[in-house]
Amino acid sequence: MTFQEHILEGIPKSLPPKKAYPSDANRAPKRKDILTIEEKQLAIRNALRYFPKEWHAELAKEFAQELQDFGRIYMYRFKPTYKICARSIDAYPAKSSQAAAIMLMIQNNLDPAVAQHPEELITYGGNGAVFQNWAQYLLVMQYLATMTNEQTLHLYSGHPMGLFPSSIHAPRVVVTNGLMIPNYSKPDDWEKYNALGVTQYGQMTAGSFMYIGPQGIVHGTTITVMNAFRKILPKGETPSGKIFLTAGLGGMSGAQPKAGNIAGCITICAEVNAKAATKRHAQGWVDELIDSMDALLQRVREAQIKNEVVSIAYIGNVVEIWERFDEEDIFIHVGSDQTSLHIPWTGGYYPIGVSYEESNRLIREEPKIFKEKVQATLRRHAAAINKHTAKGTYFFDYGNAFLLEASRAGSEVMASNGIDFKYASYVQDILGPMCFDYGFGPFRWVCASGNPTDLDKTDQIAMEVLQEIMESSPEEIQLQMQDNITWIKDAKKNKMVVGSQARILYADAEGRAKIATAFNQAIAAGKIGPVVLGRDHHDVSGTDSPYRETSNIYDGSKFTADMAIHNVIGDSFRGATWVSIHNGGGVGWGEVMNGGFGMLLDGTAAAEERLKSMLFYDVNNGIARRSWARNKEAIFAIKREMDRTPNLKVTIPNLVADSILKDLF
Ligand SMILES: NC(=O)c1ccc[n+]([C@@H]2O[C@H](COP(=O)([O-])OP(=O)(O)OC[C@H]3O[C@@H](n4cnc5c(N)ncnc54)[C@H](O)[C@@H]3O)[C@@H](O)[C@H]2O)c1
Repeated sequence: MTFQEHILEGIPKSLPPKKAYPSDANRAPKRKDILTIEEKQLAIRNALRYFPKEWHAELAKEFAQELQDFGRIYMYRFKPTYKICARSIDAYPAKSSQAAAIMLMIQNNLDPAVAQHPEELITYGGNGAVFQNWAQYLLVMQYLATMTNEQTLHLYSGHPMGLFPSSIHAPRVVVTNGLMIPNYSKPDDWEKYNALGVTQYGQMTAGSFMYIGPQGIVHGTTITVMNAFRKILPKGETPSGKIFLTAGLGGMSGAQPKAGNIAGCITICAEVNAKAATKRHAQGWVDELIDSMDALLQRVREAQIKNEVVSIAYIGNVVEIWERFDEEDIFIHVGSDQTSLHIPWTGGYYPIGVSYEESNRLIREEPKIFKEKVQATLRRHAAAINKHTAKGTYFFDYGNAFLLEASRAGSEVMASNGIDFKYASYVQDILGPMCFDYGFGPFRWVCASGNPTDLDKTDQIAMEVLQEIMESSPEEIQLQMQDNITWIKDAKKNKMVVGSQARILYADAEGRAKIATAFNQAIAAGKIGPVVLGRDHHDVSGTDSPYRETSNIYDGSKFTADMAIHNVIGDSFRGATWVSIHNGGGVGWGEVMNGGFGMLLDGTAAAEERLKSMLFYDVNNGIARRSWARNKEAIFAIKREMDRTPNLKVTIPNLVADSILKDLF
């Protein structure tokens, strides 16, 4: 059978043979055994809904075994035998090119070169799922292959509810992931309802098919690390020879050493999972691998003396480094952490003094002990960080719930008012006021032809557009414009493409729309093939997350999620090809609502109309909200936008003098 025939077949007509688990795969952690016997029966009953009756007896036993062994039913047997990777858009069987573009993006998220646990359909973040099981994948691909531009596919946490009649103006796919009745959104609810097969954790770009490998975060991380050093170093001094200490070489965190190299410092990144560290080293994302503390100390001292720009992966627990560097009096200029603390009890954060393998056993067999060890480690971790910050280290929370979980574990990370944390998050200090409030965020595109020369051409187009905009842009955003022009000039040199031919840069609403328009014109002129536009959910408007994207909202509304919901609804009727809205992502289930979109540019006038309408709203929705929260950068940005867009009328806040409030109560 050809690839196209496989896709069109959906669930195979005859039962495929049972498969052995590939020995080289990076397996997802075994999930908590949380279901009662009745619930386990329900999980099997749910899973068998996808298959004909004649297979039930055989599959029931197999799925029960999967549930017992892994805590989930992945339906490994149904994983297709063809290679899963982003093909050229023409390679997909489809009646709608928009649907073909979505197939390409789905396959990219499941490509073993891209995905963290491809066998379990997890793209990144330990639990960021594209689908819950392989039956959902097969059915979704089949639906996409057969649908027209008069239909919309509705996905409930990976499950294709079906194709519904709609119109050319509607999105082709509407995705929800992990949406729960709010009272049922605790971490164990995810464990339970995901095990039952009725919900999933879509992270941000995993469940919305918009992941582009660690490149997606390299850029944001580069800006963050660069500006963290700008904050602490005297003007004119460079980061070379200065230390950035952090942890995690996983899906997102793997970008840190690369960003450190671009920012020009010594990056030390601890990683307990040797497989993850080796993968990043082999991909060229980190320069050196070291697995002993003595060797690390020696290498770091040498790098400091020589003012080197180098990134080092330390295979071990990050707490060992924080503690030992304190004893050895090695000064850390900038510190952070990107372990997966949004899922601390299921393998997101590994305790010190316990082997990786033993930790994984504890997670499954003795979760209470595992939790105690994690919390004890967090207390040691925070205590060591506090010692360094007392000496002058700048530490920031990297949006992984480190401070949240450290505080829950009883660490001394609270500010004196007992409400705030003692350290700011990267959004509060850097990305919020410098980027999001002005509308700058992680715009991205994928060349759907799969042709690297298309990517080169789009890089060039984007650079020229940004240069032109910069000539007349106000002082307030000049630094952003310049950083992004420098970035796009070097983007190819930094060799960041893993999987699809994708690129990211930070741009505001004007930049995004002008770049997209220029792409669409280049497609119409036959200079490049179709382009898929998108963005990370971690953006100006897409995400309500009180400890991350909206942590610099200070009017009390950071615990609301109206912005993210308005965004997905607003994007959906302004021309998005697909939209998604997720509970969880980044900081954890129940802690964040985030959404995104994808849009196919095909060179038509209709595509130009769609991109202008949708990108404008997609950015300005968030600026308006940030402005209403009294953020001065956003007030500046939205007033500027209203000046040039007569149809935009946004409610502007009146600012109250402190003296009026001082003696009121
Ligand atoms: N700041 C951002 O912009 C941003 C973006 C996306 C994700 N995140 C958050 O960052 C975190 C990491 O994301 P990811 O996709 O890389 O997750 P991941 O699970 O792929 O990687 C985390 C890595 O940390 C390692 N690790 C865990 N405990 C450790 C310890 N004590 N010492 C050393 N290594 C340890 C794990 O082995 C794993 O490889 C998540 O919480 C995610 O939500 C932040």
